[in-house]
Amino acid sequence: MRIALGCDHGGFPLKQRVIAVVQGAGHEIVDCGTDSNCSVDYPDFARKVGETILARQADRGILVCGSGVGISVAANKIPGIRAGVCHDIYSAHQGVEHDDMNVLCLGARIIGEEVAAELVRAFVNAKFTNEERHVRRLNKLLEIEHDALAGKFAQR
Ligand code: RB5
Repeated sequence: MRIALGCDHGGFPLKQRVIAVVQGAGHEIVDCGTDSNCSVDYPDFARKVGETILARQADRGILVCGSGVGISVAANKIPGIRAGVCHDIYSAHQGVEHDDMNVLCLGARIIGEEVAAELVRAFVNAKFTNEERHVRRLNKLLEIEHDALAGKFAQR
């Protein structure tokens, strides 16, 4: 698989370890920045990773910020992206198996390198089950996305 990787300055401390784990598991990294500790804005990197996946230049993504929260909220604004903050192993694989999560979000200020490494392995090794109930729920999720794009929700 090709994995698009993006982070802000808050996530940068985990970047090299994430790259090593993805490559060590036999996958390819598509580097979407950032490249230093200099302060940047996490929505820019969520956008880059989302665009890379939608352009089919990557199969899945990993996003890292300080908490994992901001960058996951940003990524989930992009239709077709299903991002989740997962700081436990069960969620990191179950999110793919049941929810077809295509972006794993991590908080570098919350977890250390070893936990991050296990989460990344769990995520890249997981596959959507295609079981009927999960496909049904995924279709309902896509319906919400479709209705939002069609302007069916009240604005606030
Ligand atoms: C950056 O200081 C920090 O706010 C960001 O990395 C992230 O934690 C936001 O959710």
